[in-house]
Amino acid sequence: MEFQNYINGRWVSGRNTFQTINPANEELVADIAQAEVSDVDAAVRAAQEAFKSWRLIPAPLRGEMLFKVGDILKQRKEELSQLLTRDMGKVIAEARGDVQEAIDMAYFMGGEGRRLLGYTAPVEMPNKFGMAVRDPAGVVGLITPWNFPIAVPSWKIFPALVAGNTIIWKPSPETPAISAAFVKVFEEAGLPAGVFNLIMAPGADVAKALVNHPDVRVLSFTGSTSTGRSIAEAAARLNKKVSLEMGGKNAIIVMDDANIELVTDATLWASFGTSGQRCTAASRLIVQNGIAGKVKESLVERTRKLKLGDGLDPKIDVGPVINKVALERIHNYVQIGQKEGARALVGASVADVGGKGFFYAPTLFDGVKPGSTLEAEEIFGPVLSIIEVKSLEEAIEVNNRSQYGLSTSIFTQDVNRAFTAMRDIYTGLVYINHGTTGAEIQFPFGGVRGTGNGHREAGQAALEVFTEWKSIYVDYSGKLQRAQIDNREE
Ligand code: UN1
Repeated sequence: MEFQNYINGRWVSGRNTFQTINPANEELVADIAQAEVSDVDAAVRAAQEAFKSWRLIPAPLRGEMLFKVGDILKQRKEELSQLLTRDMGKVIAEARGDVQEAIDMAYFMGGEGRRLLGYTAPVEMPNKFGMAVRDPAGVVGLITPWNFPIAVPSWKIFPALVAGNTIIWKPSPETPAISAAFVKVFEEAGLPAGVFNLIMAPGADVAKALVNHPDVRVLSFTGSTSTGRSIAEAAARLNKKVSLEMGGKNAIIVMDDANIELVTDATLWASFGTSGQRCTAASRLIVQNGIAGKVKESLVERTRKLKLGDGLDPKIDVGPVINKVALERIHNYVQIGQKEGARALVGASVADVGGKGFFYAPTLFDGVKPGSTLEAEEIFGPVLSIIEVKSLEEAIEVNNRSQYGLSTSIFTQDVNRAFTAMRDIYTGLVYINHGTTGAEIQFPFGGVRGTGNGHREAGQAALEVFTEWKSIYVDYSGKLQRAQIDNREE
């Protein structure tokens, strides 16, 4: 089976192909047509041409097309979820959640077709009217990761489309099969040619061509902090708007009065779901010393019971990590942690699941010191570092000291502590009595410090990235009225 690139409403093959394999068993999922730099140019030209008419389609009708996409996604949910699991490994229940997030986004942004709110305000001259409206930004370039191959792109694609932009999408080369299947849904929903283009390629050349293309006005990127920074640097020279969603080192804070069973359930889900490969995954557990012993005991017992394997089997708790390089990177971090004096309570090794695939044993580290490598760096795997603290204030301080600032959660039954935490935690997402994952699409998603560059995805906030404000003044007085001057006495 071969998946192709989609340019100007046509599926196109390339001179070369690359492959996507299932990380659970290393079997081939599909051959993929490899895009070249020249394809980027063709896609941008197609998107520029399509923009001329797409921007003029009334937004409510663009929204209706999104509803149609949502309907088809709903019909295909199971088929897409299975392909998603085969393409990148997450367990099937989570794959269904990934697709559901796109369905939610399709309907939410479809509704924006009848809102896209601008505003009017009083103006200072008689017989004059003022309003601010949202213009589409133009041709936008989207670069997305493999860990949420449907949900994360949907946070960018749907707001971009409803606002009247046209798109070049470069998904991760780790998940091309599910990406192409996703684009097919838009084709079936009847999106005009050139509005949504797909280019797939390993390596950096094609992505660089997209980033540096002078006719791509907005770039939206989710991925590593180092790549995000270099995109922003390149884009700055061309005055592009850039929205970045990058690393995380998210913490669950546990206070002495927390419910241990709930903490255990939530921590396992937040830390080892998607094998720890979420931007929102909890990789630090900041626990108050009075309850630390019991929490550790409970976590160790339950972590040992987690079943690793092929995510298509509904009995499996934890799937593989994305590839061999990731497996080695994770293990390398674990070894560094051990050298730095942290103690592995469970895990800390590559796991053997029938001799195939890339599995890492869910790992708990005790005695992790603030500032150590384990505590500071994003590992993007199933590794949780436990840090003991004496008080809420110390917990918040350790949390906020991170170079990243995406998601934090706190477990406490004390309303005063909960509100103090809501006020003082400095991350883009805060959860009370829930783990660090599970954001819903109607709220802004993103982070502070090294996680982001001030933009947000999802919710109505996403529209800020893909629109430009246009302020319009209508003077119906029939004469010259000089603002700031003619209505003054002096
Ligand atoms: C990500 O990890 O890149 O909040 C996105 C969550 C999901 C999205 C995660 N809804 O965990």
